[in-house]
Amino acid sequence: MIIEPRMRGFICLTAHPKGAEQNVKNQIEYVKSKGKIEGAKKVLVIGASTGFGLASRITSAFGSDAGTIGVFFEKPPSEGKTASPGWYNSAAFETEAHKAGLYAKSINGDAFSNEVKRETLDLIKVDFGQVDLVIYSLASPVRTNPNTGVTHRSVLKPIGNVYTNKTVDFHTGKVSEISIEPSKEDDIENTVAVMGGEDWQMWMDALKAENLLADGATTVAYSYIGPSLTEPVYRKGTIGRAKDHLEATAFSITDSLKDINGKAYVSVNKALVTQASSAIPVIPLYISLLYKIMKEEGVHEGTIEQIQRLYQDRLYTGKEVPTDEKGRIRIDDWEMRDDIQEKVAALWEQATTENLSELGDLQGYRKDFYNLFGFDVKGVNYDEDANEMIGIQSLQ
Ligand code: NAI
Ligand code: NA
Repeated sequence: MIIEPRMRGFICLTAHPKGAEQNVKNQIEYVKSKGKIEGAKKVLVIGASTGFGLASRITSAFGSDAGTIGVFFEKPPSEGKTASPGWYNSAAFETEAHKAGLYAKSINGDAFSNEVKRETLDLIKVDFGQVDLVIYSLASPVRTNPNTGVTHRSVLKPIGNVYTNKTVDFHTGKVSEISIEPSKEDDIENTVAVMGGEDWQMWMDALKAENLLADGATTVAYSYIGPSLTEPVYRKGTIGRAKDHLEATAFSITDSLKDINGKAYVSVNKALVTQASSAIPVIPLYISLLYKIMKEEGVHEGTIEQIQRLYQDRLYTGKEVPTDEKGRIRIDDWEMRDDIQEKVAALWEQATTENLSELGDLQGYRKDFYNLFGFDVKGVNYDEDANEMIGIQSLQ
């Protein structure tokens, strides 16, 4: 069977197992090429199957020879349907980790639930004893709070005023103006409930209560700031409130880990094409201009380059972890460079449907988007029958 991309709006309904496998292999090769990192050896990654979480799992495993337990929520393949990309990524990751003699097991289910937490704690207890690093990298539009049973939905809205700006449909390249209505009060609460720090704290409390965190254990969650251009819909919008909450939670987790010398960090990462960010209006246009400039300046990075640098130059230097005035790790430093932001802002003013393919890196955006689903990946022969991989059951 030949698998082709089938788009519906901002999502792709199909995924290519060989492309996913090649993506994972490329990320592994990149991490290996950068040398060993004196990092954690027993690592739990929550949100391990795509984006920054997958890059974290790969960097721990192939940078520091760590055993990894990955938690994620992905669809396995079924009759006539491909799996979701994260499922193929994780199958490929496990295969490569096992080949390298590294421990790797995965738990596929709702990380917000008590059941998946229980299952994970039990696995850590039996196989690891304790973990020394917990990466928290969930991105979800919905969360059911296990204590209240209430299901919260996050929204991406400005707060207070209608926000009008340019956006691009990255499939067609059409630049248009979009107006987004401001949030209502429960939108903020709901978004904070989904993407804030409450669940991160629950995970860390549960791990601590059962003595599953090693002395000096570290936990890291990911955040975003971005330029003033996107502030109304991102950092000062509903999602920004959730990120404020996530960042504040780092301090309360650190407090709760004092007796084991543990530490919680938030790392502010670069804007990248992921399933989550493609769904936010305005952001894809910003990313396509940002990519253009960062590539020109020779400082462009993808998820694996970001996370490898986070580990090597921030978390595991053997010195104190450098943070900003709010205690955050900044690995968005190259994105936020003044010269880069000035150039992006100038392009933003000029961008139209007619000139975007020259001004911006729409090609790069599309390629990264297709790559998320295992399509358009270098080194893959898409005319080859992908059948034997569709049913792979190597996840354990
Ligand atoms: P992603 O969509 O690539 O990955 C999300 C992960 O969460 C996947 O492994 C998915 O399976 C898992 N997941 C979602 N719901 C789940 C559930 N209920 N139970 C278990 N697993 C679940 O997202 P991405 O972009 O890597 O985001 C990760 C973090 O990084 C988020 O906090 C995001 O805000 C942050 N970030 C993203 C940036 C971007 O430009 N993409 C920039 C800076 C930070
Ligand atoms: Na992730």
